[in-house]
Amino acid sequence: MNRFANCKGREGNEVVLVRCAALRGVPEIWMKPNTKGYFQCIQRRQNNALKSRATDGYLIVHANGGLNQMRLGISDMVVAAQLMNATLVLPFLDHDSFWKDSSEFKDIFDWEHFIDELKDDVNIVNSLPPNYANKKPHVMPPISWSKGSYYKDLNKLLKKHQVIQFTDTDCRLANNVGNPSRQKLRCRANYKALRFTPQIEELGKTLVDRLRNQTNHYIALHLRYEKDMLAFTGCTNELTEHEAEELRDMRYSVKRWKEKEINSMEKRLKGGCPMTPREAAVFLKAMDYPSTTNIYIVAGEIYGKNGLNALKAEYPNIHTHNSLATPEEIESLEMYHNRLAALDYIMALKSDVFVYTYDGNMAKAVKGHRMFEGFLKTISPDRQEFVHLIDQMDAGEMTWMEFKQRVKEFHADHLGGPCARKAGALPKLEEYFYANPLPGCLCKSKDNNLKAIL
Ligand SMILES: *[C@@H]1O[C@H](CO)[C@@H](O)[C@H](O)[C@H]1NC(C)=O
Ligand SMILES: *[C@@H]1O[C@H](CO)[C@@H](O)[C@H](O)[C@H]1NC(C)=O
Repeated sequence: MNRFANCKGREGNEVVLVRCAALRGVPEIWMKPNTKGYFQCIQRRQNNALKSRATDGYLIVHANGGLNQMRLGISDMVVAAQLMNATLVLPFLDHDSFWKDSSEFKDIFDWEHFIDELKDDVNIVNSLPPNYANKKPHVMPPISWSKGSYYKDLNKLLKKHQVIQFTDTDCRLANNVGNPSRQKLRCRANYKALRFTPQIEELGKTLVDRLRNQTNHYIALHLRYEKDMLAFTGCTNELTEHEAEELRDMRYSVKRWKEKEINSMEKRLKGGCPMTPREAAVFLKAMDYPSTTNIYIVAGEIYGKNGLNALKAEYPNIHTHNSLATPEEIESLEMYHNRLAALDYIMALKSDVFVYTYDGNMAKAVKGHRMFEGFLKTISPDRQEFVHLIDQMDAGEMTWMEFKQRVKEFHADHLGGPCARKAGALPKLEEYFYANPLPGCLCKSKDNNLKAIL
């Protein structure tokens, strides 16, 4: 009997699919985690579609932060507008964050698709209509981690002023807003409505195809070893004295960064530092990725005179947007950090394995998106555990084989499979909704999903 005979027509049977992947010769390092029967469940209830274009007023939002922070904040603002019975004006993007990027919403996102995709959820307009243009907006920052009732209450203020302007959008909505349909709307906004411009999406697709043409599989490694991150976290491990000084100066010069005196060694031992290029290489090797593995680096410039050397020594097949794109292709994006970040987002989303070395906004956004897309493999290193292990190995207290076994054992359930979001005493201590949209946008039983739709 054909050994693939059992592989046909058994879609959804996870055990069979995994066994079949193994039979077809897909090595375990490239296999997806078990989805345990979870699937997307974000449909709108049929009777819930927006019935009128009438509005109680307009909501203007100024998104803040880098690309991913803005993206997630904007998704929340879609829900805020719905709760307030407001018409949302196409969001304004941050030009003053660390990256200084003049790109507007329309330069990064497919704005027509955004409006159209959400047309039955919330009214969105390109700009404030002329008869509102001379109204003075009521300007305010919404309170962080607010419940739905907070935005519902703002309806009174909206009716009074007719135009409300939010100065910030980051983490302004609680991870768990009671109403399930609002959680689903967050996911429709983030995963369906917010699509990059056709130009960025096409270039992303071209680069993915080009990379896949050279190799079957690739890892996207978010190596957050950039100057701003190191200055912000105060992590100087494996850098020179001079480099450490430069980072310290930078930290003191940025007012927003509150923490100034930082002990890099202590911070690293607590898991507070991004992995170094060497640590990332050792980690991947311990996780059984062979030195021929193709790695796409998701990041800007790697800081330090040694840059990527330690990684390249172990993994010579390194790619970046600059190495994959032609100068003509990348020219129109080059000056805009957020557009390059959008390109990297696509490369990370479409990779076989996504690994991140620090859990910043991009890592969180991509990890959650990959879970949503069917639990694509995402390896989340436990940095605190890892630095203890690698230090023991470096000190000769542990052999390579012992080290490798411990690393693999420890990360066996850090592969991006389904696992319900962890609640916390404070919103800050909870797992972020967009880093793990389960529960909310991923469901197990068909019945539950049907109940949600009907
Ligand atoms: C928003 O509009 C709907 C439909 O007109 C209404 O039922 C709801 O109470 C309004 N919400 C607020 C917060 O005013
Ligand atoms: C992939 O490689 C083939 C053969 O080398 C080439 O014809 C094709 O254009 C390549 N595709 C991409 C997307 O680079």
